[in-house]
Amino acid sequence: MPAITVEATLFALFGASGDLAMRKLFPALYQLDRAGLLHAETRVLALSRDAGEPAGHLDRIGEALRRYVPESQLDPVVLERFRERLDYLTMDFRRGEDYAALAEKVSPDIPLIAYFATPASVYGPICEHLAAAGLAEQTRVVLEKPIGHDLASSRVVNEAVAQYFPESRIYRIDHYLGKETVQNLIALRFANSLFETQWNQHHISHVEITVAETVGIEGRWGYFDQAGQLRDMIQNHLLQLLCLIAMDPPSDLTADSIRDEKVKVLKALAPITPEKLGQYVVRGQYVAGTVGGKAVPGYLDEENSNAESSTETFVALRADICNWRWSGVPFYLRTGKRMGQKVSQIVIHFKEPPFYIFAPEQRSLISNRLIIRLQPDEGISLQVMTKEQGLDKGMHLRSGPLQLNFSETYKSSRIPDAYERLLLEVMQGNQNLFVRKDEIEYAWRWCDQLIDGWSRLGDAPKAYPAGSWGPVASIALITRDGRSWYGDL
Ligand code: BG6
Repeated sequence: MPAITVEATLFALFGASGDLAMRKLFPALYQLDRAGLLHAETRVLALSRDAGEPAGHLDRIGEALRRYVPESQLDPVVLERFRERLDYLTMDFRRGEDYAALAEKVSPDIPLIAYFATPASVYGPICEHLAAAGLAEQTRVVLEKPIGHDLASSRVVNEAVAQYFPESRIYRIDHYLGKETVQNLIALRFANSLFETQWNQHHISHVEITVAETVGIEGRWGYFDQAGQLRDMIQNHLLQLLCLIAMDPPSDLTADSIRDEKVKVLKALAPITPEKLGQYVVRGQYVAGTVGGKAVPGYLDEENSNAESSTETFVALRADICNWRWSGVPFYLRTGKRMGQKVSQIVIHFKEPPFYIFAPEQRSLISNRLIIRLQPDEGISLQVMTKEQGLDKGMHLRSGPLQLNFSETYKSSRIPDAYERLLLEVMQGNQNLFVRKDEIEYAWRWCDQLIDGWSRLGDAPKAYPAGSWGPVASIALITRDGRSWYGDL
């Protein structure tokens, strides 16, 4: 039996026929049900503009579950129970009158979770109509990214929502914060004194954060081309990872203590001015190539593309954090679509020993690294130097891993999808894993000056073949500092 109890809620999903809902949100709710983590009274209300009989929509949700939940986890009893919880309502989210039907489904003593899987331009109108229908007091709102496309537009969205809801009931999603290994970063750093004493510029030479994807644009050209990889991935996921690595220990695990520390990191990021741009940032765009043995088209040849686009699908950059802990320790961030392998990992490179007593030719062996693998093969590995075994080996050194592979070590437990954890946290009213307004705004401020520099300099993205590790310039970005990307990819 689960060790936690979760209160009953009405989970209202705005944008229920969209891709995110079908691919991630309904499967996550199903998994929570399967794990016994949904209260018997919890109901799920799917809301979308699509007309038609509710039964047809519920059938489509059932099909999505069969498609996106692994077959071994499809339990007919749970599927039936889950279907019983579901209801469907056709609504135009911008029309106040449509909210009367929603209000009829809401019971006053059960919290309403309003999940917005819609464009951010509708968040304000939905909030306004929820408030006008008298539902605001009992509602927690969940906002999907992207929240705006720069600081100014994110403020418009945040302010529109804040007119009706206090920050304590606004849950901004960054699904990376729900990933199991990202959660583990907090445990690793603050439940082990071993690491925390080393976690600074005295002992760490540099940090790498790579989020490489093999997928391309997946039919999302319209959205993606307006955004680009910097807005789509760096502004949120990679900066959140950077914050969790770089922040000071919070005084407790409450949402605001953690978020206060993350904000301090974002405020300490050195601006990448136009003068530094050429050396510190590389933008790329994929051209045709091969991924996983399959020929794939270039970005400009994707479905519905505009052949003139100069949107980046890859970014590598060097970020510097100006504070006592991190001064002089570069954080190299790299993310791209259509790369050779799907991998998200953080590599902490420790400094070399201050004085070398072994044979000088062995010095090139890389010293300690801590590798935190978010996906696939979630786990943590610490590379340590040991002696090669054998009478004839003298003091020959070798670098080997102290390994913790989560799926092997905890064989019986399935690693939950990030959305499962996040939805559960909203149902419990915990904001720890959600992004506060000022975090979003500081992240935008830092990205805005970078984007601004690109447009002022007319910086065109550099081509890289699909299936590679990005433009050659991204290698030069790090080798210029006498380092290389952790090559074990
Ligand atoms: C989303 C981006 O936030 O994250 C997508 O909009 C990206 O473009 C996705 O593909 C990556 O998430 P994950 O969990 O697959 O690494």
